[in-house]
Amino acid sequence: MPQNEASIAGIILAAGKGTRMKSDLPKGLHRVCGVPMVELVARALSGAGVENLTIVIGHGGEVMQHTLGEKYNYVWQREQLGTGHAALMARDVLASHEGPVIVAAGDTPLLDSETFKALIATHRETGAQATLATAIVADPQGYGRIVRDRAGVFQKIVEQKDATPDERAIREVNAALYCFDNATLQRILPTLSNANAQGEYYLTDVLERIVAEGGKVEAKVFEDAGILVGVNDRWQLALADRDLRERILKRHALAGVTLRDIASIYIEPDVEIGPDCVIEPNTILAGKTKLGTAVTVGPNSKVVDSTIGDGTAIVMSLVDRAVVGAGVWVGPYAHLRPNAVLEDSVRIGNFVEVKNATLKEGAKANHLSYLGDGEVGAGSNIGAGTIFCNYNGFQKSRTVIGQDVFVGSNSTIVAPVHIGDRAMLAAGSVITFDVPEDAAAFGRARQETKPDWAANWRSKMAARRKA
Ligand code: UD1
Ligand code: CA
Repeated sequence: MPQNEASIAGIILAAGKGTRMKSDLPKGLHRVCGVPMVELVARALSGAGVENLTIVIGHGGEVMQHTLGEKYNYVWQREQLGTGHAALMARDVLASHEGPVIVAAGDTPLLDSETFKALIATHRETGAQATLATAIVADPQGYGRIVRDRAGVFQKIVEQKDATPDERAIREVNAALYCFDNATLQRILPTLSNANAQGEYYLTDVLERIVAEGGKVEAKVFEDAGILVGVNDRWQLALADRDLRERILKRHALAGVTLRDIASIYIEPDVEIGPDCVIEPNTILAGKTKLGTAVTVGPNSKVVDSTIGDGTAIVMSLVDRAVVGAGVWVGPYAHLRPNAVLEDSVRIGNFVEVKNATLKEGAKANHLSYLGDGEVGAGSNIGAGTIFCNYNGFQKSRTVIGQDVFVGSNSTIVAPVHIGDRAMLAAGSVITFDVPEDAAAFGRARQETKPDWAANWRSKMAARRKA
């Protein structure tokens, strides 16, 4: 098969303990902008056309497999003997693979598909046995250093702990991102030695061996060093989070989204935002959230895995797995919970909670209500303090309200119950039976008014105090 048509395999090394993270969670599962680092690397690889992706797991391997799911292959590295040993664990998966294989680390969360594509393109153009990504950084601390000869030809990578003082001064570093000819990689990996400062089998030694054999190694310098950054501790995690966050914000800003405060707006990678949306300060858009055109969110809001229609405003509210139509107003201090469905022009006001309930077009619940497990018909008005009593301690039941219904303030609706179109519920009612259409229901004690009773009572009390 000609090389430019060969499929590309990928390996992500993610078995290491990540000691410097000081965590029970395996390092690769720590999240950057809400997504596990390994997943970010895997997505970038897939986006670059890499099929046949294998993740090397070890420390916390079960949790990793469980969190990332069945879309990837996994191989185990039971003992963490180094990056070269980790790559060797994928030998069976790659035994029959022809063509290049990319090896990446699970702790480089800023890598994007463009970077992988550029690496693959260079590998193909140069016909090297191995191509690696390098960057020139201000502080090379902790990275492997790239050693070149006088003519600038790649010689080897020296790990920080094995480096001489002269080598430590080198500011060109190894990004731990490689494209290998698979046959060459598989031939050299089992022959590595661990005679070095850390007693580990270094993947990086494969490159020196290729050079020693007279083969070709291409070390490609990437201009944007930030994209290659590795995360070894929580401070680097925090910096990576900030960096990716800024890249995401910039992408949306350039696509026509107004961001009122880039210091306090968090947008996760999968969020989609239409043009002319305005995101106010202290706002988090998370998961698979999708905003239409000219939506306003914030200030002080969080929207998770929800769809929001054109021209809607979400103000100081929490919206979680809800579907919201166009021209809707939500907030301040509203809580939309899973499967809240608000059709177009609905209004949800302060201290209103909606869960597993649909409000049809133009329905309103402006103040202090709980609407759980039910349906509110088009144009109906839910008065302040209305509660859908959906739970009796054992089961959940539904409240169904027709269209253009008027629900008086402080109504307690004990489900299951059905309220017909255009019915009225008197304020303060406890509604336990169905109400037919166009009827009014009064579910409260009748008022009794006693003339002069208050004045008489006060005089009696005053007389008693004097005595
Ligand atoms: C590695 C490189 C270094 C490079 C740096 C870039 C080696 C020897 N060194 O160093 O040149 O500059 O990355 O970020 O490769 N892992 C395993 N099994 C192991 C050991 C590690 O799966 O036995 C995985 C880790 O989970 C991690 C990745 O390999 O995802 C890199 O390991 P890490 O220990 O972070 O290597 P660095 O010291 O950062
Ligand atoms: Ca690392």
